[in-house]
Amino acid sequence: MAAYNINSVFKLNSGYEIPRLGFGVYQTPPDGTKKACLEALGVGYRHIDSAVVYRNEAGCGEAIRESKLPRSEIFYTTKIPTKFMGYKAAKAQIDTSLKTAGLDYLDLVLIHAPYGGSANRKGTWKALVEAVEEGKVRSIGVSNYGIHHLDELETHIAELEAERGGKGKGGVLSVGQYEIHPWCARNDVAEWLKARGVAVEAYSPIVQGTRFGDATLARLAAKYGKSEAQVLIRWSLQKGYIPLPKSVTPARIAENAALYDFDISADDLAALETDEYKPVCWDPVTSGLDA
Ligand SMILES: NC(=O)c1ccc[n+]([C@@H]2O[C@H](COP(=O)([O-])OP(=O)(O)OC[C@H]3O[C@@H](n4cnc5c(N)ncnc54)[C@H](OP(=O)(O)O)[C@@H]3O)[C@@H](O)[C@H]2O)c1
Repeated sequence: MAAYNINSVFKLNSGYEIPRLGFGVYQTPPDGTKKACLEALGVGYRHIDSAVVYRNEAGCGEAIRESKLPRSEIFYTTKIPTKFMGYKAAKAQIDTSLKTAGLDYLDLVLIHAPYGGSANRKGTWKALVEAVEEGKVRSIGVSNYGIHHLDELETHIAELEAERGGKGKGGVLSVGQYEIHPWCARNDVAEWLKARGVAVEAYSPIVQGTRFGDATLARLAAKYGKSEAQVLIRWSLQKGYIPLPKSVTPARIAENAALYDFDISADDLAALETDEYKPVCWDPVTSGLDA
């Protein structure tokens, strides 16, 4: 495989580049977020994954400014929550997120989940498309969309192109973010996305710590001389995904980014992956189109 390093990037359909390793801040307390993000930026992460519902967009923005790194070197994501689904609410929320984080633009805005019904999904997407045209947002995408929601999004994009004046006016899908790890591999969704050049982000890449001690995982950690967390994050990278490990613990923040001096063999990658479908987080992916 290509020899990744912490500066490796993936070229998005939008034309922008996204760092292949992200730093997650779900469940990071708002008053500890600046510190955790500064720690992460200090050891080389250049990509922070937040969301409105995490209530810590302000801390992420503070860290981005206080890091003194050029803004262009940091990739910052937020997500539109279910509560703000729909054209008007989503449009307003993008402005609120910019203000809360204190940033001039957002690198990536995702629809957090497909809940809210078809009309609201289309309206939210249209709000994201307009935000890109206005320079407020650089790239857009979805999270937790099942293949049925993704197919619907393609229809919405075609409809918006017809309604708004042609090719490109329906927006460009750049990223899909999903719970992905060896106990929830989602190869079907990943194939759909990869076939269209869409970057696949993997959340809960270390399964929130719930699989430590698994026999195969422990065996591979011993074989490669790495921690079980490092093996899981490296599995994600080598599958071609963009893992988003979260930690508030400085030693773990560094450990989770020390991934670039080993290579898991193809056999071991396959051995670690299971046929199980056991998400540890929520699972909007399987929700119906009317949910
Ligand atoms: N789009 C969505 O719906 C969605 C849903 C969930 C998550 N996400 C994103 O994905 C990110 C990661 O997912 P996640 O937070 O659910 O889970 P995760 O990254 O798989 O696991 C985080 C947990 O593992 C612990 N941990 C981290 N590194 C460790 C290490 N090296 N050794 C042992 N334990 C370690 C952390 O503890 P400490 O923090 O105490 O160190 C924390 O309890 C989130 O922060 C968020 O940005 C998105």
